[in-house]
Amino acid sequence: MAVKPLREGGPAARIAVIAGDGIGQEVTPESIKVIHAAMDSHSGSARRQIEFVELDWGADKFLREGITLPAGAVEMLANEFDAILFGALGDPRVPSNQHAAEILLGLRFKLDLFVNARPVELFHDRLTPLRDRTTNDIRFMVFRENTEGLYVGVGGFFKKDTPDEIAVQEDVNSRKGVERIIRHAFEYARQNKLKRVCMSDKSNAMTFAHDLWQRVFKQVRQEYPEIESRHLYIDTLAMEVVRDPRQFDVIVTCNLFGDIISDLGAQLAGGLGLAPSGNIHPGRTSLFEPVHGSAPNIAGKGIANPLGSILTSAMMLDFLGWTAEGNALRTAVRAALQENFVTPDLGGEKKTVEVGDWIAKRVGSR
Ligand code: NAD
Ligand code: IPM
Ligand code: MN
Repeated sequence: MAVKPLREGGPAARIAVIAGDGIGQEVTPESIKVIHAAMDSHSGSARRQIEFVELDWGADKFLREGITLPAGAVEMLANEFDAILFGALGDPRVPSNQHAAEILLGLRFKLDLFVNARPVELFHDRLTPLRDRTTNDIRFMVFRENTEGLYVGVGGFFKKDTPDEIAVQEDVNSRKGVERIIRHAFEYARQNKLKRVCMSDKSNAMTFAHDLWQRVFKQVRQEYPEIESRHLYIDTLAMEVVRDPRQFDVIVTCNLFGDIISDLGAQLAGGLGLAPSGNIHPGRTSLFEPVHGSAPNIAGKGIANPLGSILTSAMMLDFLGWTAEGNALRTAVRAALQENFVTPDLGGEKKTVEVGDWIAKRVGSR
């Protein structure tokens, strides 16, 4: 992935931090702690520099000031930051979810972060609910289209709040948008020497929008003859990833289906507490967030699993070109899982901060 040139004299990377709501506030500081530990373990000229700038965007600010994305926010992020480390948004006091839509979806759209990369990797055999499956069986990447589809918010109500009400939500698919995510999936497979790409849609029912996906897929796949490409309808894919996840290396699909299949994948690999993601536009400021939400049911208890956020930070470090540090984070997470030093969602009794401290210590003593 393309990396921005390092700034002369200043920090090597500037990261905007949006911890957000609920457990986003609890897991994100653990990530920052662990990244600092990874940076500090370098010495002399190899020492990495990183600057974090915290932004207080979320439900509290929205309820207090009515502000979701402040004026000029998108330009500031695009021009002054290399990446955004994001926690979660969602608060029971905002049932409309307006702030989450405007901030999270707003940034995905306005920064044109068309790749939502959601890796599914089983780190320890005991974590999968699938019988007899091991770490060798569950390892695939989901590429979710992230700027179009049913998420664009085009639609409306007719005769709202009457018995004759009609609600319309448009599914927007551009040739450019479909092509760039499918191409990204093939490029990723080629670069990582992965043999199989599966495109998933619902073209048997969505005969316009997903007919476009079919035609673009057939065109792009021709440029990658060494890669085995196949198509599955999304309902079949959901069934097949459970029946035999070994079939998949790379999955590419639309925005909504990618949202759903990535939660399914997360559960195959130990649950939402462990699942990372990146919202990426190669070469531009990109946003990294755990797949999970703000988990109001456990927020404030100090028991949220920080490993999803820490693995997300590893993806961010990869994106910044710091793969050694990214790998150090992943190795430490693997070790915590091996030693069962985990939060209650994974059957342990450790607190969020204890797990973060443990990982930071591991990473720092490389
Ligand atoms: P959720 O991911 O917040 O929680 C689902 C379940 O998983 C809950 O039981 C929760 O306790 C558990 N869980 C999630 N992350 C965990 C972690 N790190 N450690 C331990 N357990 C964890 O999904 P939800 O309950 O459907 O949504 C809650 C709010 O979050 C909603 O407002 C939703 O819109 C929002 N949301 C935001 C994002 C995001 O910001 N990227 C993603 C998903 C949901
Ligand atoms: C996710 C979330 C979001 C999405 C919500 C909060 C809008 O579920 O990041 O997976 O659907 O994209
Ligand atoms: Mn989701």
